[in-house]
Amino acid sequence: MKMSSKLKSLVVLLIVINLCMFLHDSLSEYFLYANEREDDPWFTQRFDKAVEPFLTVEHKLSMHAFKWWKASTQLQPIERQSFDDYQTVVDALLKTFPAISKGAEPGPAERCRMCAVVGNSAHLKDSRYGHLIDIHDVVLRMNKSPIKGYEEDVGTKTTHRLMYPESATDLDNITHLVLLPFKIMDMVWLQKALTTGFKGETYQPVRANIQVNKSLVMVLNPGFIAYVHRVWLRRRSGYPSTGFLAVILALHMCEEVHVFGYGADRDRNWSHYWEKLKNPNLGTGLHYGKQEYYLIQKLADRKKIKLFKRRFTKS
Ligand SMILES: *[C@@H]1O[C@H](CO)[C@@H](O)[C@H](O)[C@H]1NC(C)=O
Ligand SMILES: *[C@@H]1O[C@H](CO)[C@@H](O)[C@H](O)[C@H]1NC(C)=O
Ligand SMILES: *[C@@H]1O[C@H](CO)[C@@H](O)[C@H](O)[C@H]1NC(C)=O
Repeated sequence: MKMSSKLKSLVVLLIVINLCMFLHDSLSEYFLYANEREDDPWFTQRFDKAVEPFLTVEHKLSMHAFKWWKASTQLQPIERQSFDDYQTVVDALLKTFPAISKGAEPGPAERCRMCAVVGNSAHLKDSRYGHLIDIHDVVLRMNKSPIKGYEEDVGTKTTHRLMYPESATDLDNITHLVLLPFKIMDMVWLQKALTTGFKGETYQPVRANIQVNKSLVMVLNPGFIAYVHRVWLRRRSGYPSTGFLAVILALHMCEEVHVFGYGADRDRNWSHYWEKLKNPNLGTGLHYGKQEYYLIQKLADRKKIKLFKRRFTKS
């Protein structure tokens, strides 16, 4: 029973994979695939491989990106820190978390990586996508999305969980935490919450401590957020949502990107798969803009990602 549904997932996956399957044994196919990205001007005008997605030892945030980051996230004005303060905080992070200093690889590097980005939309409910999601090399999830009790629909594997202090949750000992730093305080929080404890609050109370494997902590490069805002969103929203950052991050981490759980449910409500809609007037949520969803659909139309929208019907 279990096996047959695994098999079914595998078959579905093989059907949806564009070229990844060939990459495992043929290098020339790799260049074919790379060309496919490079041959699309719409894509190449936006996708910039040179932007480093994660903080590393060599990390240098430009003053330009720093200014953007401080000015445009709305959450920043409560902070009075300078570029030097930022560097001090980053240095402390590099000392505390080895994965940052090593520049951790997001998965098996020698082959075509397949990423699943698992959003939180209610249309995952009864989707039975679980097995399909678990087959991927890299599985990105966001914030507090639960797994327990939803395994059949959302899978069990998580290689990376994207979160920020206000959305933080405990992780198991094999999941990477990817901090989305929307402000300098978020980096301070990370360092404290995994060591001596964070005393204070941001714009709302946050956890003083979290359980995370320190070897698996990564931090998104603030310059990457600036790039997504400037190049992908053409500065059309205040700052990119976690969900949109996750999709663009996956494009930078993986050759093949499969996106689950994005978009409104069948009633056109935007709700989470684990809870009843609290506010039906929320629309697209706080900052999950139309522009972002338009771009995600555009990426799917141009076959740069595969968007799993519909329900995976039970047989
Ligand atoms: C944390 O992750 C590292 C690297 O994968 C691993 O070697 C280590 O055993 C993990 N720690 C725990 C407590 O599981
Ligand atoms: C990691 O977590 C699992 C399950 O929570 C546990 O069985 C295992 O012993 C842990 N590994 C280490 C190295 O702590
Ligand atoms: C979704 O919205 C419709 C009205 O647009 C409402 O009737 C329905 O109850 C909502 N669904 C949920 C899960 O709240």
